[in-house]
Amino acid sequence: MGLTQLPAFEATSSIDSAVDALAAGHLCAIPTETVYGLAADACNANAIARVFAAKGRPTSHPLIVHIAHTSQLHRWIHDLPEWAIMLTTALWPGPLTIVGRRTPIVLDAVTGGQDTVAVRVPNHPMTLELLSKLEARGVLGLVAPSANNFGGVSPTTAEHVIDDLGTYLAQHHDVVLDGGACTVGVESTIVLATQDQPIVLRPGAITQADIERITGVQVLTTSEKAPRVSGSLASHYAPAAQVILTTVADLQDATFSKNSGFIALDSIATPEGVTRLANPKNPAEFAAQLYAALRQADEQQLTKVYVVAPLGSGIEQAIADRLRRAAHESTMTT
Ligand code: TXA
Ligand code: MG
Repeated sequence: MGLTQLPAFEATSSIDSAVDALAAGHLCAIPTETVYGLAADACNANAIARVFAAKGRPTSHPLIVHIAHTSQLHRWIHDLPEWAIMLTTALWPGPLTIVGRRTPIVLDAVTGGQDTVAVRVPNHPMTLELLSKLEARGVLGLVAPSANNFGGVSPTTAEHVIDDLGTYLAQHHDVVLDGGACTVGVESTIVLATQDQPIVLRPGAITQADIERITGVQVLTTSEKAPRVSGSLASHYAPAAQVILTTVADLQDATFSKNSGFIALDSIATPEGVTRLANPKNPAEFAAQLYAALRQADEQQLTKVYVVAPLGSGIEQAIADRLRRAAHESTMTT
């Protein structure tokens, strides 16, 4: 508890106040199935500038445009390969972002000047209603980066958003729309769709196997010319506590410093002397609870968090990717 307390920013569940705020060029944090986003009208350069300022994000890191329906995609991206159309038809609304060639309505502020733009239809009932109502008022899409400070842990509740950005947002102008806890918990899978084979730029709940099954096209696993992705920086998604990736075998003879936290599947016993931060029963629950658990570590002023990540080729890949970045590649050395 700090000594000085600003009045807390208050979230709302009123979709209409979110519509009004965004149509007036203000900011609104929106719930999605993955993480909360900090949204602004994708065609309003001033509002977009405030999104970058709120997050402390360099303007060279491009944003994702969120739209109401797959049928609107052509407004933002042209010349999509057939396989990408198959993907969006099968998976939207859902945790998939498509990066394709930008149309003239796309602002440089959105893409960081690149000739491609990222677009997705998020799967959250309140945000889908919000996007439809905005469209009727002439707001065709929303940029929405994760609503956290740049480099930090993404928010999966409205409370997380307020913890991070509450002092920046202006009550009575900006809005935090509370849609409950995010169900997926890790950011969308980003797929580059500028060539005849998909390239996964960021792993998420939609896996390489899903993409290949739906499209019948093989995913290219490496690219010499992958565009910049801010989430691909070595250090990202990091709490203040040091994240240490470990294994059940390494836990046997480890000694833990005071103020250590622990995240693992429920089936893995808590070692003596550490604070358990989550008990997910399966990899999907692990993903859904991970960011809240990392935030808990900071709230409880833990200095280290030991994590046993589930192994596998599904959402486990996205979990491992985020944890590697949170850990700055550090591994357990005891
Ligand atoms: O699940 C999500 O995608 C969440 C929710 C709020 O929708 N959003 C999200 O946004 O994760 P953000 O800004 O935190 O991450 C967007 C990622 C960044 O890594 C960015 O570099 C990449 O998308 N990106 C955006 N436009 C791109 C482009 N034209 N080419 C390559 N990467 C792009
Ligand atoms: Mg982010």
